[in-house]
Amino acid sequence: RYRDTNAGDKMNPFAEQEAWEDHQIGKATLNYGSKDRKLKSDDYQFVFEDQIEFIKATVMDGVNVDQESSIESPDSSSAKTAFEKLQQDRQTLPIFPYRDQLLQAIHDHQVLVIVGETGSGKTTQIPQYLHEAGYTKRGKIGCTQPRRVAAMSVAARVSQEMGVKLGHEVGYSIRFEDCTSEKTVLKYMTDGMLLREFLGEPDLASYSVVMVDEAHERTLSTDILFGLVKDISRFRPDLKLLISSATLDAEKFSDYFDSAPIFKIPGRRFPVEIHYTKAPEADYLDAAIVTALQIHVTQPPGDGDILVFLTGQEEIETAEEILKHRTRGFGTKIAELIICPIYANLPTELQSKIFEPTPEGARKVVLATNIAETSLTIDGIKYVIDPGFCKMKSYNPRTGMESLLVAPISKASANQRAGRSGRTGPGKCFRLFTAYNFYNDLDDNTVPEIQRTNLANVVLTLKSLGINDLLNFDFMDPPPSEALLKALEMLYALSALNKNGELTKVGRRMAEFPLDPMLSKMIVASDKYKCSDEIISIAAMLSVGNSIFYRPKDKQVHADNARLNFHMGNVGDHIALLNVYSSWRETNFSTQWCYENYIQVRSMKRARDIRDQLEGLLERVEIDLTSNLNDLDAVKKAITSGFFPHSARLQKNGSYKTVKHPQTVHIHPSSGLAQVLPRWLVYHELVLTTKEYMRQVTELKPDWLVEIAPHYYQLKDVEDLASKKMPRGEGRASKD
Ligand code: CDP
Ligand code: MG
Repeated sequence: RYRDTNAGDKMNPFAEQEAWEDHQIGKATLNYGSKDRKLKSDDYQFVFEDQIEFIKATVMDGVNVDQESSIESPDSSSAKTAFEKLQQDRQTLPIFPYRDQLLQAIHDHQVLVIVGETGSGKTTQIPQYLHEAGYTKRGKIGCTQPRRVAAMSVAARVSQEMGVKLGHEVGYSIRFEDCTSEKTVLKYMTDGMLLREFLGEPDLASYSVVMVDEAHERTLSTDILFGLVKDISRFRPDLKLLISSATLDAEKFSDYFDSAPIFKIPGRRFPVEIHYTKAPEADYLDAAIVTALQIHVTQPPGDGDILVFLTGQEEIETAEEILKHRTRGFGTKIAELIICPIYANLPTELQSKIFEPTPEGARKVVLATNIAETSLTIDGIKYVIDPGFCKMKSYNPRTGMESLLVAPISKASANQRAGRSGRTGPGKCFRLFTAYNFYNDLDDNTVPEIQRTNLANVVLTLKSLGINDLLNFDFMDPPPSEALLKALEMLYALSALNKNGELTKVGRRMAEFPLDPMLSKMIVASDKYKCSDEIISIAAMLSVGNSIFYRPKDKQVHADNARLNFHMGNVGDHIALLNVYSSWRETNFSTQWCYENYIQVRSMKRARDIRDQLEGLLERVEIDLTSNLNDLDAVKKAITSGFFPHSARLQKNGSYKTVKHPQTVHIHPSSGLAQVLPRWLVYHELVLTTKEYMRQVTELKPDWLVEIAPHYYQLKDVEDLASKKMPRGEGRASKD
């Protein structure tokens, strides 16, 4: 299991990975190479050939299911305006009958824990109730969400319900995107954004209410917010604090907030039949697709939509493609299947599609990450398909390495997922694993992120808030002290902290940027190398993620050639990203140019927005915008100044070994240097798929490491041993 309590194994992420693979439900292959997936489109029969057998095991009881009269609003006239319809819908939500009681409880108590099923109306209604009750006369109402998509879509919904323009009275704020104005009184935001607001306003004076929503998700930022809001609530008795959660473990929140009362909103859940597979499924993606088709083909179309939980964008796109292909093969023999993907990076304009009602005679299948577990409610779902996996961050405090990997979900998550099918009527959940797996292999709860992540960013933020004694910070669940120490060490290595753990001038500048400390350091260092112009372009492009290049299936060769142009001279991936950005800027940000070069224009626009903001922040930290395009080494040195802890050296067999804590890693096949194999390089990040891959790499000269980070690397670390003697044995390294 990736989260291993065995200290010995902890030191070796590969041991963790193996342990996890053993543990996988069935033997889910994570490799969806196209050769594994010969698509069959010719016959209708295959659905039944491939049919997966399920065993109906349990029924999750419905609770407090009201009778139809109160759920269904009388659909009397079409004369009603959309606005009136929305007002009527608001009154049918489970929370509505408790409106006055809830307002009274908030009036009576400074801190209130609120618990209610997903979809009961907590996120959209409570801030509106407070607004209606006059709280916004005293200050804003802030409501945090762990996910960007949720913050945006909920704000959009609430602005509709209030009949105002998004960004006026109701707005949202997510990293690099502030959709609020002077007028905004209901502000939805990611938890990370509220955390950053503490930097400018340590007592949150402009807020009358803070609602930490989706508290059960226990993201890193939410956990830190708990400590901060608890602290300010003591000297701001006028500030109301709401902690809301979709699960029943509210006692823990209550205990933490000095026995705050718990307000339970009785849910309306219909019974959900749970089905397990008879045997473990070897390939959960395929099993999910087959199950979805099985349901679609055998059940009448009007009877309900399907929600499939997958682990990420790539997987969702693969599933979408296969589903389209297979249903096309059926022609008109089956009802229309409308495929709706939803994941964090899905462009905003496509997100709303999942909320559109399904047309008569068709069925919707929503392919979602665990964003649909509790953050978003989609009406009309009757079937849930749950492969039992999600993508999780894992962190090895010993080596400081972080990776994203696909891991089994917890029992609590599985039950949340199942519950999504019983919102508007009795539902069915198909688990693509066995009942034995469920009871014996899954953890009860997901480990809070704070215990499995790199804390450097949070430690830098807390230090900037003047919180120095981190070991005694009031954590709900403290992070491993090893991870805290590692974060302090990293910030010291980056010169953000001095020997006494105090914030330095560099650290203060770094904290201004809403980026990972390594990226912030790279930007701050660009001052010295006179290349801030280039570096903020690179930082912006890196922040967009891996959605710059576009590679349509039928034009892969063209796309790859276009891409190679930016890599000319084996400049490395960072400079290639810079080339993309600069070329686009030269065309005056032409959309046509993006098409011609197989570049996603949407991602580029986002990069431009981010870059604009970084440029503004440069001014704040008094770094001049200077360009040094003729000296690529200067640019690479600035990159190295931030990323020197991520250096790796080529091995004889073509793999790499990280320099500081030797681990075997590989260049990601999508890199421009994948065939070049430079002897030394820095990488942006590690991703674990079939191997531990370095994504976005740039060549460096080993003596730069000693020049730039003499406190981190000594000569002996970077001596080119390969030229003198054999590299050290493979086996030794991981125990180091
Ligand atoms: O926060 P909680 O899960 O308790 O519920 P909510 O997010 O306030 O959602 C209440 C209802 O609002 C849902 O059942 C949806 O019908 C609707 N909603 C929507 O249509 N579009 C959104 N983006 C969010 C909510
Ligand atoms: Mg909610």
